[in-house]
Amino acid sequence: MGDDHVTNNVDPADIGPETFNNAPIGVFDSGVGGLTVARTIVDQLPHESLIYIGDTAHSPYGDKSLDEVRTYARAVADDLVARGCKMIVIACNSASAAFADIAIEDYDVPVIPVILPAVKRATSTTHNRKVGVIGTAATVASGEYARTFERYIADEGMAEVDVYSEACPLFVPFVERGITTGRQILGITENYLEPLKEAGVDTVVLGCTHYPLLTGVVQLVMGDEVTLVSSAEETAKSVYRTLSETGQLADTDPDREVSLSFESTGDPARFASLATRFLGPAITSVSHIPELFR
Ligand code: DGL
Repeated sequence: MGDDHVTNNVDPADIGPETFNNAPIGVFDSGVGGLTVARTIVDQLPHESLIYIGDTAHSPYGDKSLDEVRTYARAVADDLVARGCKMIVIACNSASAAFADIAIEDYDVPVIPVILPAVKRATSTTHNRKVGVIGTAATVASGEYARTFERYIADEGMAEVDVYSEACPLFVPFVERGITTGRQILGITENYLEPLKEAGVDTVVLGCTHYPLLTGVVQLVMGDEVTLVSSAEETAKSVYRTLSETGQLADTDPDREVSLSFESTGDPARFASLATRFLGPAITSVSHIPELFR
Protein backbone atom coordinates (compact mmCIF):
# COMPACT_ATOMS: atom_id res chain seq x y z
CA MET A 1 0.00 0.00 0.00
CA GLY A 2 1.17 3.55 -0.76
CA ASP A 3 2.25 5.98 1.99
CA ASP A 4 -0.61 8.30 1.18
CA HIS A 5 -3.04 5.44 1.76
CA VAL A 6 -6.46 6.72 2.84
CA THR A 7 -8.35 4.77 5.46
CA ASN A 8 -12.04 4.54 5.84
CA ASN A 9 -13.01 6.75 8.80
CA VAL A 10 -15.74 4.30 9.71
CA ASP A 11 -14.29 1.11 11.14
CA PRO A 12 -16.77 -1.79 10.88
CA ALA A 13 -15.31 -3.22 14.08
CA ASP A 14 -16.47 -0.09 16.01
CA ILE A 15 -19.99 0.16 14.67
CA GLY A 16 -20.99 -3.44 14.01
CA PRO A 17 -21.50 -5.08 10.64
CA GLU A 18 -25.20 -4.14 10.29
CA THR A 19 -24.49 -0.42 10.53
CA PHE A 20 -21.51 -0.67 8.20
CA ASN A 21 -23.71 -2.51 5.68
CA ASN A 22 -25.95 0.56 5.61
CA ALA A 23 -23.04 2.86 4.76
CA PRO A 24 -23.30 4.37 1.26
CA ILE A 25 -21.74 3.00 -1.91
CA GLY A 26 -19.40 5.64 -3.37
CA VAL A 27 -19.71 6.02 -7.14
CA PHE A 28 -17.69 8.44 -9.22
CA ASP A 29 -17.11 9.53 -12.77
CA SER A 30 -15.61 12.45 -14.65
CA GLY A 31 -19.12 13.89 -14.88
CA VAL A 32 -22.68 12.81 -15.53
CA GLY A 33 -21.96 9.71 -17.63
CA GLY A 34 -21.45 7.46 -14.61
CA LEU A 35 -25.11 8.03 -13.78
CA THR A 36 -25.79 5.20 -16.28
CA VAL A 37 -23.99 2.97 -13.76
CA ALA A 38 -25.60 4.62 -10.71
CA ARG A 39 -29.03 4.23 -12.27
CA THR A 40 -28.58 0.50 -12.81
CA ILE A 41 -27.30 0.07 -9.23
CA VAL A 42 -30.32 1.95 -7.84
CA ASP A 43 -32.70 -0.11 -10.00
CA GLN A 44 -31.28 -3.40 -8.75
CA LEU A 45 -30.44 -2.38 -5.17
CA PRO A 46 -33.09 0.11 -3.98
CA HIS A 47 -32.06 -0.26 -0.31
CA GLU A 48 -28.53 0.97 -0.90
CA SER A 49 -27.54 4.56 -0.11
CA LEU A 50 -25.24 6.16 -2.62
CA ILE A 51 -22.88 9.11 -2.84
CA TYR A 52 -22.20 10.00 -6.47
CA ILE A 53 -19.44 12.44 -7.36
CA GLY A 54 -19.14 13.84 -10.88
CA ASP A 55 -15.73 15.46 -11.29
CA THR A 56 -17.07 18.00 -13.76
CA ALA A 57 -14.37 20.53 -12.83
CA HIS A 58 -11.95 18.24 -14.69
CA SER A 59 -14.29 16.68 -17.24
CA PRO A 60 -13.81 15.21 -19.78
CA TYR A 61 -11.21 12.67 -18.68
CA GLY A 62 -11.25 10.98 -22.07
CA ASP A 63 -8.89 13.40 -23.81
CA LYS A 64 -6.42 13.73 -20.91
CA SER A 65 -3.22 11.84 -20.17
CA LEU A 66 -3.50 8.80 -17.89
CA ASP A 67 -1.33 10.57 -15.30
CA GLU A 68 -3.74 13.50 -15.13
CA VAL A 69 -6.77 11.23 -14.93
CA ARG A 70 -5.10 9.22 -12.16
CA THR A 71 -4.48 12.37 -10.09
CA TYR A 72 -8.10 13.55 -10.39
CA ALA A 73 -9.57 10.09 -9.82
CA ARG A 74 -7.47 9.55 -6.71
CA ALA A 75 -8.64 12.83 -5.14
CA VAL A 76 -12.29 11.91 -5.64
CA ALA A 77 -11.93 8.29 -4.52
CA ASP A 78 -9.95 9.34 -1.42
CA ASP A 79 -12.81 11.65 -0.48
CA LEU A 80 -15.42 8.88 -0.82
CA VAL A 81 -13.32 6.45 1.22
CA ALA A 82 -12.68 9.04 3.95
CA ARG A 83 -16.44 9.65 4.16
CA GLY A 84 -17.06 6.04 5.08
CA CYS A 85 -18.29 4.49 1.85
CA LYS A 86 -18.46 0.70 2.11
CA MET A 87 -17.52 0.21 -1.54
CA ILE A 88 -16.07 2.36 -4.34
CA VAL A 89 -17.42 2.03 -7.87
CA ILE A 90 -15.20 3.61 -10.52
CA ALA A 91 -18.03 4.26 -12.95
CA CYS A 92 -15.76 5.89 -15.53
CA ASN A 93 -13.89 3.75 -18.07
CA SER A 94 -11.08 6.30 -18.48
CA ALA A 95 -10.61 6.48 -14.68
CA SER A 96 -10.78 2.69 -14.41
CA ALA A 97 -8.07 2.40 -17.06
CA ALA A 98 -5.83 4.87 -15.21
CA PHE A 99 -6.51 4.09 -11.57
CA ALA A 100 -8.28 0.76 -10.89
CA ASP A 101 -5.21 -1.35 -10.08
CA ILE A 102 -3.89 1.26 -7.65
CA ALA A 103 -7.28 1.76 -5.98
CA ILE A 104 -7.79 -1.99 -5.48
CA GLU A 105 -4.38 -2.15 -3.86
CA ASP A 106 -4.70 1.00 -1.72
CA TYR A 107 -8.20 0.94 -0.26
CA ASP A 108 -9.57 -1.35 2.46
CA VAL A 109 -13.06 -1.40 0.97
CA PRO A 110 -13.97 -3.31 -2.23
CA VAL A 111 -13.31 -1.35 -5.44
CA ILE A 112 -15.39 -2.15 -8.53
CA PRO A 113 -14.03 -0.73 -11.78
CA VAL A 114 -16.12 -0.86 -14.97
CA ILE A 115 -13.65 -2.70 -17.19
CA LEU A 116 -13.39 -6.23 -15.71
CA PRO A 117 -17.17 -6.90 -15.53
CA ALA A 118 -17.55 -5.97 -19.21
CA VAL A 119 -14.58 -8.14 -20.17
CA LYS A 120 -16.07 -11.13 -18.34
CA ARG A 121 -19.40 -10.78 -20.13
CA ALA A 122 -17.83 -10.25 -23.58
CA THR A 123 -15.61 -13.29 -23.11
CA SER A 124 -18.58 -15.51 -22.40
CA THR A 125 -20.67 -13.95 -25.19
CA THR A 126 -18.31 -14.14 -28.17
CA HIS A 127 -18.49 -17.22 -30.38
CA ASN A 128 -15.86 -16.33 -32.96
CA ARG A 129 -13.41 -14.94 -30.32
CA LYS A 130 -13.32 -11.53 -32.03
CA VAL A 131 -14.41 -8.68 -29.76
CA GLY A 132 -14.58 -4.95 -30.49
CA VAL A 133 -14.09 -2.34 -27.76
CA ILE A 134 -15.13 1.27 -28.24
CA GLY A 135 -14.20 4.01 -25.78
CA THR A 136 -12.59 7.41 -25.27
CA ALA A 137 -9.11 8.19 -26.60
CA ALA A 138 -7.68 7.79 -23.06
CA THR A 139 -9.29 4.37 -22.53
CA VAL A 140 -8.18 3.03 -25.92
CA ALA A 141 -4.66 4.49 -25.65
CA SER A 142 -4.22 2.88 -22.21
CA GLY A 143 -4.62 -0.62 -23.69
CA GLU A 144 -6.32 -1.57 -20.42
CA TYR A 145 -9.20 -3.47 -22.03
CA ALA A 146 -6.82 -5.63 -24.11
CA ARG A 147 -4.68 -6.30 -21.01
CA THR A 148 -7.71 -7.18 -18.90
CA PHE A 149 -8.94 -9.62 -21.59
CA GLU A 150 -5.51 -11.22 -21.68
CA ARG A 151 -5.25 -11.56 -17.89
CA TYR A 152 -8.78 -12.85 -17.43
CA ILE A 153 -8.51 -15.40 -20.24
CA ALA A 154 -5.18 -16.67 -18.89
CA ASP A 155 -6.60 -16.93 -15.33
CA GLU A 156 -9.64 -18.85 -16.54
CA GLY A 157 -7.72 -20.99 -19.05
CA MET A 158 -10.06 -19.90 -21.86
CA ALA A 159 -9.49 -19.73 -25.62
CA GLU A 160 -7.83 -16.49 -26.72
CA VAL A 161 -9.83 -13.49 -27.89
CA ASP A 162 -8.70 -11.00 -30.55
CA VAL A 163 -9.51 -7.50 -29.31
CA TYR A 164 -10.10 -4.64 -31.79
CA SER A 165 -10.26 -1.23 -30.10
CA GLU A 166 -11.55 2.00 -31.59
CA ALA A 167 -11.61 5.44 -29.98
CA CYS A 168 -14.83 7.35 -30.65
CA PRO A 169 -14.08 10.86 -29.32
CA LEU A 170 -17.17 12.53 -30.84
CA PHE A 171 -19.65 10.23 -29.10
CA VAL A 172 -19.45 11.94 -25.67
CA PRO A 173 -20.18 15.49 -26.92
CA PHE A 174 -23.01 14.21 -29.13
CA VAL A 175 -24.66 12.33 -26.24
CA GLU A 176 -24.29 15.35 -23.95
CA ARG A 177 -26.00 17.51 -26.60
CA GLY A 178 -28.80 14.95 -26.73
CA ILE A 179 -28.06 13.96 -30.35
CA THR A 180 -28.45 10.20 -30.66
CA THR A 181 -30.41 10.07 -33.93
CA GLY A 182 -30.03 11.66 -37.38
CA ARG A 183 -27.71 11.57 -40.37
CA GLN A 184 -24.73 13.13 -38.61
CA ILE A 185 -24.43 10.65 -35.74
CA LEU A 186 -25.21 7.78 -38.13
CA GLY A 187 -22.36 8.85 -40.43
CA ILE A 188 -19.93 9.28 -37.54
CA THR A 189 -20.87 5.87 -36.12
CA GLU A 190 -20.43 4.15 -39.50
CA ASN A 191 -17.02 5.73 -39.79
CA TYR A 192 -15.85 4.71 -36.30
CA LEU A 193 -17.20 1.16 -36.53
CA GLU A 194 -16.04 0.32 -40.04
CA PRO A 195 -12.79 -1.36 -38.83
CA LEU A 196 -14.77 -3.50 -36.35
CA LYS A 197 -17.13 -4.62 -39.11
CA GLU A 198 -14.20 -5.42 -41.37
CA ALA A 199 -12.59 -7.46 -38.57
CA GLY A 200 -15.86 -9.44 -38.24
CA VAL A 201 -16.30 -8.99 -34.48
CA ASP A 202 -19.43 -10.68 -33.06
CA THR A 203 -19.41 -8.71 -29.78
CA VAL A 204 -18.82 -5.02 -29.06
CA VAL A 205 -18.08 -3.65 -25.59
CA LEU A 206 -19.53 -0.19 -24.97
CA GLY A 207 -16.45 0.92 -23.04
CA CYS A 208 -17.61 4.39 -22.04
CA THR A 209 -20.25 5.65 -19.65
CA HIS A 210 -22.07 7.57 -22.39
CA TYR A 211 -22.40 4.79 -24.94
CA PRO A 212 -25.43 2.99 -23.46
CA LEU A 213 -27.35 6.01 -24.79
CA LEU A 214 -26.11 5.15 -28.29
CA THR A 215 -27.08 1.46 -28.39
CA GLY A 216 -29.73 2.20 -31.05
CA VAL A 217 -27.31 3.63 -33.59
CA VAL A 218 -24.44 1.27 -32.72
CA GLN A 219 -26.70 -1.79 -33.10
CA LEU A 220 -28.10 -0.41 -36.36
CA VAL A 221 -24.61 0.01 -37.80
CA MET A 222 -23.16 -3.27 -36.49
CA GLY A 223 -26.24 -5.36 -37.36
CA ASP A 224 -28.50 -7.47 -35.16
CA GLU A 225 -26.19 -10.48 -35.12
CA VAL A 226 -23.60 -8.55 -33.09
CA THR A 227 -24.01 -8.53 -29.29
CA LEU A 228 -23.47 -5.24 -27.46
CA VAL A 229 -22.07 -5.45 -23.91
CA SER A 230 -22.76 -2.47 -21.66
CA SER A 231 -20.04 -1.85 -19.10
CA ALA A 232 -22.61 0.05 -16.99
CA GLU A 233 -24.98 -2.90 -16.75
CA GLU A 234 -22.26 -5.46 -16.10
CA THR A 235 -20.76 -3.27 -13.37
CA ALA A 236 -24.07 -3.00 -11.54
CA LYS A 237 -24.33 -6.81 -11.58
CA SER A 238 -20.82 -7.01 -10.19
CA VAL A 239 -21.76 -4.61 -7.35
CA TYR A 240 -24.77 -6.81 -6.55
CA ARG A 241 -22.68 -9.99 -6.60
CA THR A 242 -19.87 -8.55 -4.46
CA LEU A 243 -22.20 -7.16 -1.78
CA SER A 244 -24.13 -10.45 -1.68
CA GLU A 245 -21.02 -12.61 -1.47
CA THR A 246 -19.38 -10.48 1.23
CA GLY A 247 -22.59 -10.22 3.29
CA GLN A 248 -22.56 -6.43 2.92
CA LEU A 249 -26.01 -5.75 1.47
CA ALA A 250 -27.90 -2.97 3.25
CA ASP A 251 -30.82 -4.06 5.37
CA THR A 252 -34.23 -3.97 3.74
CA ASP A 253 -36.18 -2.36 6.60
CA PRO A 254 -38.72 -0.10 4.80
CA ASP A 255 -38.55 2.47 7.66
CA ARG A 256 -34.83 3.08 7.23
CA GLU A 257 -34.06 6.14 5.17
CA VAL A 258 -32.07 5.54 1.99
CA SER A 259 -30.02 8.51 0.87
CA LEU A 260 -29.02 9.24 -2.72
CA SER A 261 -26.62 12.15 -2.84
CA PHE A 262 -25.32 13.69 -6.06
CA GLU A 263 -22.34 16.01 -5.97
CA SER A 264 -20.35 17.80 -8.61
CA THR A 265 -16.92 19.45 -8.43
CA GLY A 266 -18.02 21.89 -11.15
CA ASP A 267 -21.23 23.82 -11.78
CA PRO A 268 -24.09 21.94 -10.03
CA ALA A 269 -26.75 23.53 -12.28
CA ARG A 270 -25.11 22.17 -15.44
CA PHE A 271 -24.73 18.77 -13.77
CA ALA A 272 -28.42 18.76 -12.83
CA SER A 273 -29.60 19.72 -16.32
CA LEU A 274 -27.56 16.96 -17.98
CA ALA A 275 -28.35 14.42 -15.26
CA THR A 276 -31.96 13.79 -16.30
CA ARG A 277 -30.74 12.51 -19.68
CA PHE A 278 -28.71 9.84 -17.88
CA LEU A 279 -30.90 9.09 -14.87
CA GLY A 280 -34.18 9.27 -16.79
CA PRO A 281 -36.83 12.01 -16.69
CA ALA A 282 -38.94 12.37 -13.55
CA ILE A 283 -42.70 12.10 -13.92
CA THR A 284 -44.00 15.56 -13.03
CA SER A 285 -47.71 14.90 -13.40
CA VAL A 286 -50.06 12.02 -14.13
CA SER A 287 -53.46 12.71 -15.66
CA HIS A 288 -56.47 10.59 -14.99
CA ILE A 289 -58.29 9.13 -17.98
CA PRO A 290 -61.83 7.76 -17.77
CA GLU A 291 -62.43 4.01 -17.81
CA LEU A 292 -61.66 2.74 -21.34
CA PHE A 293 -63.19 -0.72 -21.05
CA ARG A 294 -66.95 -0.80 -20.54
N1 DGL B 1 -16.78 8.90 -18.27
C1 DGL B 1 -15.87 8.83 -19.38
C2 DGL B 1 -15.56 7.35 -19.68
O1 DGL B 1 -16.33 6.47 -19.40
C3 DGL B 1 -16.44 9.52 -20.60
C4 DGL B 1 -16.50 11.03 -20.46
C5 DGL B 1 -15.12 11.65 -20.32
O2 DGL B 1 -14.34 11.63 -21.30
O3 DGL B 1 -14.85 12.17 -19.25
O4 DGL B 1 -14.53 7.08 -20.22
